[in-house]
Amino acid sequence: MKKMDKIIIRGGKRLSGTLPVSGAKNSALTLLPCALLTDEPLTLRNLPRLADIDGFQHLLNQFGISTSIAGARPEDFGRVMTLQATRLTSTVAPYDLVRKMRASILVLGPMLARAGEATVSLPGGCAIGNRPIDLHLKVLEALGATIELAAGYVRAIAPDGGLPGGRYSFPVVSVGATENALMTAVLCKGKSTLHNAAREPEIVDLCNLLVAMGGQIEGIGTSDLTIHGVDRLHGATYMVMPDRIEAGSYACAAAITGGDVMLKGAKIEDMEATVQALRDAGVFVEPRAGGIYVAADGPIKPVTLSTAPYPGFATDMQAQLMAMLCLAKGSSVLTETIFENRYMHVPELNRMGARIETKGRTAVVHGVDTLTGAEVMATDLRASMSLVIAGLAAEGETQVHRLYHLDRGYERLEEKLQLLGAEIERVGGD
Ligand code: UD1
Repeated sequence: MKKMDKIIIRGGKRLSGTLPVSGAKNSALTLLPCALLTDEPLTLRNLPRLADIDGFQHLLNQFGISTSIAGARPEDFGRVMTLQATRLTSTVAPYDLVRKMRASILVLGPMLARAGEATVSLPGGCAIGNRPIDLHLKVLEALGATIELAAGYVRAIAPDGGLPGGRYSFPVVSVGATENALMTAVLCKGKSTLHNAAREPEIVDLCNLLVAMGGQIEGIGTSDLTIHGVDRLHGATYMVMPDRIEAGSYACAAAITGGDVMLKGAKIEDMEATVQALRDAGVFVEPRAGGIYVAADGPIKPVTLSTAPYPGFATDMQAQLMAMLCLAKGSSVLTETIFENRYMHVPELNRMGARIETKGRTAVVHGVDTLTGAEVMATDLRASMSLVIAGLAAEGETQVHRLYHLDRGYERLEEKLQLLGAEIERVGGD
């Protein structure tokens, strides 16, 4: 991708058709580092083709993990990757890789568990607010690690004889810290218990992979997890779950155009809060064999909701739902409770004719009759998608800049939208 590529959308086309849902980015980003936990091959199927996955592969290669990709034709969505960490040649995740991808912190736990030590650059600032890693470090300490911070790096060290395991109660639900804890605890000497753990479907996906590798975990899918450490894990072949956020995003895209879409591969049980929000907005949503069918034929109704940890409404869906609600008949109230500074799409949507007011963590979206195309850009992944969604319904042409955000998280976005009949193209910018 050229740095200045942009997407041009000519809005107003009703979207209709079948959309293949890709493997979940956030699941893939925690399944990949599981390759650190065994010297045997780990094969992951249905990995999305995304810049973040390529970045993570590169990071794992730095540790001496071999990776190979098989069986994918260019026209296919998804890939199969086999990873093998026969021997680790480094236990350091350097700054230049970590700063590009926050999820790099997810190598800390499994590397510590496998090698007895791990050094990872502190991720640094993040566009959606200050995102600390204190809980990742506290839970690893609770499992028996010593943590040292120096020169912008965090170093985790296991005692001689290995990590004993332990008990930790999360003061705040954290997806990443729960993932790091699980990937560490599976190789601890004894039993570990995690309370108030995250229970997002991606955490369940991680637990299922760890169990397939020989891990012993009780309470999967709940916020209380008990992990009985084992001496070693073995290889596995595992299919990444479908991306519930991608599916929800395309549901909003279809709905804002008054269209209908079959989200092929999506699982309704993983996205009930999104489905409820769409239904509250008057959108028809129904599970069908092999996926979810979404259709909007009446006016969009306003919705009031707050983001919350799973099973609540996902913060990663907030921007896309907001874009859809810009055309609702009435005022919606959205409250963001997970991240600060996650309304960066609001001024851009307003430039397209939306009428959104924010006050602290709450956004009031006054529905308007029409949106108008504009040149826009956003500073994070989901915010960028909200601008695409608005552009699909806007009158005239919308140009979305800074595509590297979209390429981090939406596999071949413009191809998928073209499948639904959108007028959208990617062009090199100047
Ligand atoms: C993951 C997802 C991200 C999603 C988020 C919440 C991945 C790669 N990313 O991010 O897309 O938006 O879950 O569903 O899976 N916190 C702390 N200290 C910590 C860790 C987190 O205070 O050590 C706070 C955060 O600032 C935030 C809240 O906990 O307010 C939740 O963050 P967390 O669940 O950890 O998000 P991520 O795992 O970074």
